[in-house]
Amino acid sequence: MCGIIGCAGRGDSTLDTLLHGLSKLEYRGYDSAGVALSDDDLTVRRKAGKLDALETSLGADPLQNGSGSVSDNPVGIGHTRWSTHGPPTDGNAHPHRDCTGRVAVIHNGIIENYQELRDELAASGHEFESDTDTEVVPHLIETALDSGMAPEEAVRDSIDRLEGAYAICVVIAGVDQVFAARNDSPLVLGVSDDAYFFASDVPAFREFTDKVIYLDDGEFAVINQNGYRVTDSNGAVVEKTVNTIEWDPEETGKSGYDHYMLKEIHEQPRALRQCLQGRVDELAGEVILEELGDVNPDAVQFVACGTSYHAALYGAQLFRSIGIPAQAYIASEYATSVPPIDDDLVIGVTQSGETADTLSALREARRRGAKTMAVTNVVGSTAARECDEALYIRAGPEIGVAATKTFASQLVTLALLSLWIDGEEDNRDVIAGFRDLASNVQAILDDTNARKIAEEYHDSDAYFFIGRGLHHPVALEGALKFKEISYEHAEGFPAGELKHGPLALVTDNTPVFAVVTGEGEQARKTIGNVKEVEARDAPVIAVTDGQSDVERYADHVLEIPESTPRTAAVLANVQLQLVSYYAAAQLGRPIDKPRNLAKSVTVE
Ligand code: AGP
Repeated sequence: MCGIIGCAGRGDSTLDTLLHGLSKLEYRGYDSAGVALSDDDLTVRRKAGKLDALETSLGADPLQNGSGSVSDNPVGIGHTRWSTHGPPTDGNAHPHRDCTGRVAVIHNGIIENYQELRDELAASGHEFESDTDTEVVPHLIETALDSGMAPEEAVRDSIDRLEGAYAICVVIAGVDQVFAARNDSPLVLGVSDDAYFFASDVPAFREFTDKVIYLDDGEFAVINQNGYRVTDSNGAVVEKTVNTIEWDPEETGKSGYDHYMLKEIHEQPRALRQCLQGRVDELAGEVILEELGDVNPDAVQFVACGTSYHAALYGAQLFRSIGIPAQAYIASEYATSVPPIDDDLVIGVTQSGETADTLSALREARRRGAKTMAVTNVVGSTAARECDEALYIRAGPEIGVAATKTFASQLVTLALLSLWIDGEEDNRDVIAGFRDLASNVQAILDDTNARKIAEEYHDSDAYFFIGRGLHHPVALEGALKFKEISYEHAEGFPAGELKHGPLALVTDNTPVFAVVTGEGEQARKTIGNVKEVEARDAPVIAVTDGQSDVERYADHVLEIPESTPRTAAVLANVQLQLVSYYAAAQLGRPIDKPRNLAKSVTVE
């Protein structure tokens, strides 16, 4: 989704600061980019394609304003656009300007009443150059300025007319301020000793400060080189808390890995240790979740999307296993047919805490009186702030579009949550099962044959992933990961479901990844399903801890250490992440930024 950066006080480094910020927002997914610098005059450059295209253009033809060169202390805004209204062209890229070229606007979200506003503005003589919804905003501001309003009043007045979701930044020639507002789209304010920033996400300015203010919906903020001011929708000043970010800027670099995804797969041992730290007391057989208040639900509903939905499926199974009725819902479907809530706890599982579909489902649940909880990675995210309870998965920043370490941390956090709510003393063995999890993940990373398997099968017709019980979500996640970064057709199924239709697709050129751990009934039944595909000559790759005899029916084995059912799901998933990564690498895909996808999906 679109990325926003704005800054004041960066002097002659303003343009570099904007470009650096945009590079840190690339992970969100985008297809064009642009910047604007504003002093006495306004100058804008926009380019379709990746940031390189914008940088090349700026290198070949440096920014100049009407008076020649840009001053040594402009304010600036920058944007990466993920297309919604109109294709990714130079003309549709942000910033957008008014008719006079003195107002520039960047925006993330969707302005729902833009057509009505555009018709009204066009009727009064405004000319539009793009297909975007955003372009109405600078024209509204132009009209307000022409009517005699002061700049801040003009921006406020224009934003008041917008319906829909937005995070917006505005600069105006001759005004040394950057204006910003948010409604249903992420926006944070960075505070350093001598400069101030707006951004969609903290990594955009983390290099310059670790102090951040999380803006709330309906708030309006102004920065200049001397400070900031936040006001509510009535214009009253709001005293905001300045938070300190706990992770280092280096955590958002690649540390020598070819891709963020591979780095983040390898960060899993550390992420899991962080997730578990201080939360389990093995001797007492206790889980400690200090951040939670009184949580004692009769039943649980999970809402989530994509990878987080797979984690929610796993969480729901664990809650059912301790006798608490639980169901996972795809967040975008939840809002259209909300099940009865009664005294249920509604848990939004969301890495970013900003996914519009999940936020909307959580809001619907709250409107109906439910208690809500966010299980999220991002401190201060919208989900964390809006829910009654927030439980952090502590995975550290995840930049690759494909969720990897955060899935592992979501699984463990949900396992801990179910045990904490259960509160039974005889959970000691289960809790002890987490002790070796990080080192077991490390053992897989050190000794995997995933690359060899990916190389052997990277050119197949399709890929299927099967598993039962807690391995069903793992199979779904294995397939999602595979398809999103390799662009190859991949599907995941509950193992028993294959024979009810999908088996028709199985051939000698469709590898089947079967997750089989333990030696119990589930393993035996899954092995039965493995035999069914083997009989159709499909190559079988078993992800197994070696406790069953699935190896006899498999062409290859991806080994995982023996563990408990809860942790086996985490371990099996690591092998599947690696297979996806190496298959995508073999196919030369842009692994960290798969086509059409965004890291943080902030529109419904
Ligand atoms: C998967 O690799 C994706 N990144 C995607 O499915 C993601 O899990 C989904 O968009 C939900 O995001 P969230 O966890 O930030 O809410």
